[in-house]
Amino acid sequence: MERVPEPELMEEKEQVISYDEADFSEGEVNLINQINQYLLKKNISLGEKDLIVDLGCGPGNISEKLAIKWPNTAVVGIDGSKEMILRAEYNKSISNNQKLKNLRYICSDIKDIKLNNFLFKKRISLLVSNSLIHHITNLEDFFNTIRILSSNNTVNFHKDLKRPLDEKSALELKAQCSIKYNEILTNDYYASLRASYTFKELKNFISENDLSSLDVFEEGENYLIVYGNV
Ligand SMILES: C[S@@+](CC[C@H](N)C(=O)[O-])C[C@H]1O[C@@H](n2cnc3c(N)ncnc32)[C@H](O)[C@@H]1O
Repeated sequence: MERVPEPELMEEKEQVISYDEADFSEGEVNLINQINQYLLKKNISLGEKDLIVDLGCGPGNISEKLAIKWPNTAVVGIDGSKEMILRAEYNKSISNNQKLKNLRYICSDIKDIKLNNFLFKKRISLLVSNSLIHHITNLEDFFNTIRILSSNNTVNFHKDLKRPLDEKSALELKAQCSIKYNEILTNDYYASLRASYTFKELKNFISENDLSSLDVFEEGENYLIVYGNV
């Protein structure tokens, strides 16, 4: 199936509310566990000197879980959509969890982040994203950003949808989504599936652009994980 790009930022209020109200917690907990397992395997423990950055953080689902899992480590969630950041700040404000003190949000397009601006008093130890890559129109923009933000020691872990093989498979996944979620979210999910990259596209980009310390892993039929160092 040909890739059909979708708008990068999720800026519509209804879209943001639908996304925020959906329960993706099972997948989110899995992702945090996968990151934790990967760090353990690499003998890396995160503490006060470290910084975790969650790119395309949306309403903060993953950022909050990272901040709770590593309470002594500063976590920064970044999103280019003002509506999403407002939602993330609101979610943080209504959470009773004292552990979220280590979490803050920044509204910025990932393409505009420079290492020498606003956030980076510390080097980034863990650079994460979930469901971001398919939003990015050109893969160079995603990989340039993680290259700029990463040092040799930065662990990258980016999970995203995998583009279905054909339109029929995409429509089947859309139909399954519609059983659980509302129409706005279902349409967004379908647009996301069509905008997603394939395993081969990511693998080829990595090998053609001197990023061989990164790798791509296919998780089940529908997800991809880009991980490693840049
Ligand atoms: C599908 S949501 C995922 C949100 C969150 N990571 C999660 O897993 O719940 C994708 C998010 O990426 C943001 N995004 C897309 N392109 C971006 C860009 N170029 N710069 C910053 N944020 C971007 C969107 O605004 C949206 O909030």
